[in-house]
Amino acid sequence: MVVEQKQNFDKESEVYTEMLENGIKNTGFSFDYIQEYKVLDLKEEVKKYTNPENELKILDFGCGIGLVTQYLRKHFPNSTLYACDYSKKSIEKCMERNKNIQNLHIMPTNGSDIPFAEKFDIIFIANVVRHIPRPNQKIIFDNLYNSLAENGRIMMYEFNPLNPVSLYFYYKEDRQYDPENVRIMSAGYSRKLFKSANFKDIKTKYRFFVPSSLKKLLWIEKYLKKCPIGANYYLIAKK
Ligand SMILES: C[S@@+](CC[C@H](N)C(=O)[O-])C[C@H]1O[C@@H](n2cnc3c(N)ncnc32)[C@H](O)[C@@H]1O
Repeated sequence: MVVEQKQNFDKESEVYTEMLENGIKNTGFSFDYIQEYKVLDLKEEVKKYTNPENELKILDFGCGIGLVTQYLRKHFPNSTLYACDYSKKSIEKCMERNKNIQNLHIMPTNGSDIPFAEKFDIIFIANVVRHIPRPNQKIIFDNLYNSLAENGRIMMYEFNPLNPVSLYFYYKEDRQYDPENVRIMSAGYSRKLFKSANFKDIKTKYRFFVPSSLKKLLWIEKYLKKCPIGANYYLIAKK
């Protein structure tokens, strides 16, 4: 049974970019940098099994106000993009922000169903699942599993509770909209969630280590993917 989601994501959408900027200002990186970084990670993973220039179907689940859309278009130029979110206000903002992007379909969801009949080559979920009540997460992952194409991949980005900067951002900014429900998720918890929905070949990688003051050391991040203290982690898996 799906638990009702009571958070006010519409209100959050009004201040989302400001909230992100506040959260990351001490790292010195712009939020554009952070959005593209995640899509570049996705591209790296996709390159391992197919050409990112193929005609792929990509779902951004919990797209919010659509900050990654332009980078999905840039790095997957021939793909058809699909985006959905629980917040109608976010959907409106996502449409407005991305009105010049071709081959993009944007729809609201009821919080548990996938509002497209397609099978996706890629499902991307960034910083969404910790906002979903835990009893609903399994239902949503089962639905995502059913929406993934046979050779598809699912990639999820989340805050890492082992990283003090992420914890600070989580308590100061993220949790204020939803103090009762939102719960930061360890990488171990996320792996169990993926496994419970039958996803296979689940890999965990840790990201965002180097602050802006050490920008010259950014190259080191690709060697730290197994070090469990990055500010974020992602899970990538297949069917
Ligand atoms: C922190 S924002 C992240 C937005 C976007 N993915 C990004 O990285 O900028 C979390 C988003 O998850 C959406 N969300 C929360 N619960 C959801 C659900 N059950 N189904 C779909 N979207 C949901 C919220 O409306 C909100 O836009």
